[in-house]
Order: sequence, then C-alpha cells, then structure tokens
Amino acid sequence: MALQLGDIAPDFEAQTTKGPLKFHDYIDGSWAVLFSHPKNFTPVCTTELGYTAKLKPEFDKRGVKVVGLSVDALNAHDKWAQDIKETQGYSLNFPLIADPDRKIANLYGMIHPNASDSLTVRSVFVIGPDKKIKLTLNYPASTGRNFDEILRVIDSLQLTAKHQVATPVNWHYGEDVIIVPAVTDEDAKKKYPAGWTAPRPYLRIVAQPRG
Ligand code: BEZ
Repeated sequence: MALQLGDIAPDFEAQTTKGPLKFHDYIDGSWAVLFSHPKNFTPVCTTELGYTAKLKPEFDKRGVKVVGLSVDALNAHDKWAQDIKETQGYSLNFPLIADPDRKIANLYGMIHPNASDSLTVRSVFVIGPDKKIKLTLNYPASTGRNFDEILRVIDSLQLTAKHQVATPVNWHYGEDVIIVPAVTDEDAKKKYPAGWTAPRPYLRIVAQPRG
C-alpha cells in the first residue's frame, strides 16, 4: 500500500552527491523534504534542482533538510551537477541520492508503472521531526513542481504543529489563521484574549500566533 500521511518515513541507506547517507540519522530531529526526479540530464528536472538550490537558505531558516533522488548513478549526478550550476546559476547544495537499482524509489512508491515502469514520477514527501510523513505530492514528469508552495506548506505545518490553528485557502506566513474546531470558545478566550472574528460559529479567524 502507498505511504500515507502519518506513516513513519521508511529508513534507508544511500549514496549521494554529499557522501553516504542513512536517512533517519540524517534527518534526526529536523524536518525534511525528500523529492524524486525522473531522470538526469532532462530539462524540467534541471530547473527544479537549480531552483531548490536557490531556496536552500529558506529551507535552512525553517530547519528543513532537503534531499533529492534520481534513479541514475552517482557519477552521472556529478556531471549533471555541473550542468545545473552552469545553466541555473546555483550549485547543488543538498544531497542528491543515486538510486540506480530503484530500491528507495520502490520503498517510497515513487515509480508509478502506468506512468513509466522505470522512471520515478515527481514525488515529494515532507517529513516531521517525529519522522512521520506530513505531506505527499506526485506530479507527472512533464510538470515542474512549485517549490515556493512546498515552503508555504512547511510554514503551515510548522505553525499548526506548535499552535492549535489551521491555515485557510492560499494562506501565507503572517496572514490570519483559523482556530481549529477542537478548541472550545472557552479555551480560545484564554489563548486569544483580544478575541477573534467568527462569521460562523465554526469559522473563527484570528491573527497568526507568533513565536
Ligand atoms: C524533464 O525533466 O524535463 C523530463 C523528464 C522525464 C520526462 C519528461 C521530462
């Protein structure tokens, strides 16, 4: 069965562009993003990896470790890294897993046989410090992902992990949030003494908690 939200992200050992990696040890105590690429030396993947390298300071700021995966061999990754730097203007600054035997791709269900029986789809797993899967995405090979959206989701996940709030449609960091239904009005009054707006009793909107 496919990995689902709340499942423990499976552990694995891998060769990467930054040396050998044992996944659970590597992410220990941090948030993580594991994402797959169909194939090296392909145009969409090249743009995605360059953009993710550009965003690395944003992931660092949020305490998130980023790990890429491609089913090509490690020596091909090194050569491709050079292309990424030259064409996208950013060097690969996070580990890119070499998974030529598709061991990890199969473990994570990144190969969807009815799309391609040998290449991974564009999968994303956001994993929490408890090693549980918080978000999964699967995009087709022809559609580049929106890594700004992945950062936005992480902002929401990190906020909701800390405070009993949810984030509304198209929310961005700093905007108003929603008090979750599990919080009674009585408890909400203690948490938010300045109050909230409630166009419906179940829709309680409050300024984003800080800290
Ligand atoms: C790409 O990254 O451009 C790509 C990879 C596999 C199939 C189609 C496009």
